[in-house]
Amino acid sequence: MTPQTHSFSVGRRLDSGAPLTRKAEHDEPDFTRLTAAGFPVISEYAHIRRARVKDPAMRILRRPYNYDQGLTADGRSDSGLIFASYQSDIGRQFVPIQKNLAEADLLNEWTTPIGSAVFALPPGCSPGGWIGETLLS
Ligand code: HEM
Repeated sequence: MTPQTHSFSVGRRLDSGAPLTRKAEHDEPDFTRLTAAGFPVISEYAHIRRARVKDPAMRILRRPYNYDQGLTADGRSDSGLIFASYQSDIGRQFVPIQKNLAEADLLNEWTTPIGSAVFALPPGCSPGGWIGETLLS
């Protein structure tokens, strides 16, 4: 059996992170490419296709953290990803993306959501300024 070097559910290669239709990690995915049998190379339900937004105003800043704590007491893998994203308007940016993923995302087969939280963060500040300055002064 050959090792699987691509992730059908994400739409990227496991070894390089390149989109299935390109060569390098930061190449733009080609979502139009079809297999010889006429199916999209990057599935209609691949994570990178479902999570992608066309409107630049809907884009979020992502900062995920992987963790692996070994095994739980009942012998299951205690590993996963803390998905953190930053956006100025959660209802217009994060929620529509999350809805697309909840509706159909092949990655859902491999992941189990176990919690979530929303935090309000004040904007950053200029040198010499202070956090919260733009809100409070
Ligand atoms: C266990 C949960 C998750 C895993 C393992 C995961 C993994 C990935 C991977 C491997 C990529 C492609 C590489 C990259 O662009 O960084 C990606 C892209 C992305 N993910 Fe996730 N993700 C998860 C959850 C989420 C959630 C909850 C959201 C938002 C609601 C999200 C939004 C995105 C977006 C916006 C992209 C970029 C799509 C694009 O190329 O435009 N992901 N994710």
